[in-house]
Amino acid sequence: MHDTLFLFGATGDLAQRYLFPSLLRLLGDGLLPEDFRVRALALSPHDTDKFRDLLRPRLEQAMPQASQGDINNLLARIDYRSVDLRNAESVAESVKDLVHRRCVSYLAIPPGLYISTCEGLALGGALTAPNRLMLEKPIGSDTDSAEEILQSIGKLVDEDRVFRLDHYLGKAPVQNLMALRFGNTLLEAVWNRNFIESVHILVAESDGVDGRDSYYSRSGALRDMVQSHILQLLCLVAMEPPASLEADRIRDEKVKVLRALRPLDAKHAAKDSVRGRYTAGTINGQPAQAYQPPEGSEAETFVGVTAHIDNWRWAGVPFHLVTGKRLPERTTRIEVNLKPVTHWLFERPDRKHAQPNRLTFQLQPQENIQLGLMSSLAGPEWGALELQPLELELSVPTGLHRRIAYERLFLDAFNGNHALFVRDDEVRAAWAWIDSVSDAWKAGDLPMEPYPAGSWGPSQAHQFLPAAIVAENRTESGL
Ligand code: BG6
Repeated sequence: MHDTLFLFGATGDLAQRYLFPSLLRLLGDGLLPEDFRVRALALSPHDTDKFRDLLRPRLEQAMPQASQGDINNLLARIDYRSVDLRNAESVAESVKDLVHRRCVSYLAIPPGLYISTCEGLALGGALTAPNRLMLEKPIGSDTDSAEEILQSIGKLVDEDRVFRLDHYLGKAPVQNLMALRFGNTLLEAVWNRNFIESVHILVAESDGVDGRDSYYSRSGALRDMVQSHILQLLCLVAMEPPASLEADRIRDEKVKVLRALRPLDAKHAAKDSVRGRYTAGTINGQPAQAYQPPEGSEAETFVGVTAHIDNWRWAGVPFHLVTGKRLPERTTRIEVNLKPVTHWLFERPDRKHAQPNRLTFQLQPQENIQLGLMSSLAGPEWGALELQPLELELSVPTGLHRRIAYERLFLDAFNGNHALFVRDDEVRAAWAWIDSVSDAWKAGDLPMEPYPAGSWGPSQAHQFLPAAIVAENRTESGL
């Protein structure tokens, strides 16, 4: 197991809110090597004591149940170096006294700094085997910038020592999708175009852009969420069963899905997509301000887009992908709508009002699986000729010990397991489709639709949103 972490971007929000707390949990649970140590690196001119003083309250806040002993144990393993990431010499200097150990460099920094930082790491000896590299999303902001990063870094470190993160893959409920699909005969039997009418993948957030304006105004929801998390969820739902759980067998199947995505073109942009930006509104009774990026920014905070997977299994099945900020609630769910039964026998409801089966995987904030059936058991007063919808619900018990996504990803990277990391060809294929969407928006002049914070997006959103959300909100928000 690798035992030395260089954590670049150590003063940033991601590191302080998630990465150090994850290390604290792993250490407390005895899952890290005995001589594990972290070198925290950022531009600020702190010394180690100052950095530890800043980190301590953040750890206490993020992990209120952690003991002071565990916190002291982690802090004692951390030292801090100030570094200029645009300067390769400075990066090399900041790591070279530790590169005789088994090192993992984690870049939690803007992708514009990846290449210069990696050049410095290579100069300092931190990218030679067996050392590893972990890269946060996004890898670039389009195909060209991603290609430049992949190629430049590819010259410095072998692909089998690069671990590209998409933290959704580290979430247990996301991994559970594979377990459910490939551990059960029942699902595989209907998992294709013959039985499935449509699939909706929704990642809704009630938070806004809040404090990330500079990154977000150049990115927007399509690049921030769809390129990574939503396409990864799509892959897990749509991929063929891999021959084994070996990392590359899984990634081979995911990349095939991405390559089968039909590019969006300008002609279909208005029908198959919508983009929006939140205006002022109210969420949970609290006023929320409008998102106002700098003049000239094209950043959308809401995207709905229908993906078509042109392959044998999924021909003709629309995958509606939706994400938005400042929506009424935080929820990530996958809704699979099955086709209606072929021949309807019952008097009531009539065929038109029968509800086809619907399978919903809610991944966040609570894990839950729901199966909508038609049944005469729903109430004793109904006879066999009169059916009613019956919801089978399987809630995962609360209090189940779920780890922070990054805990799992750290462990896998330290142990060299690539299964939950994104391969270079996946990055390329994902950007190719995302570029087709943003090019279609430009060529088709797709308007930026406003929506009030606290609503389910622009009025055009309803065709992309899961049917259950549309039904629940039809009266309240006029969807
Ligand atoms: C990040 C995005 O990758 O994921 C953020 O950059 C988003 O904009 C976040 O808020 C959502 O992650 P989670 O785990 O809170 O669903």
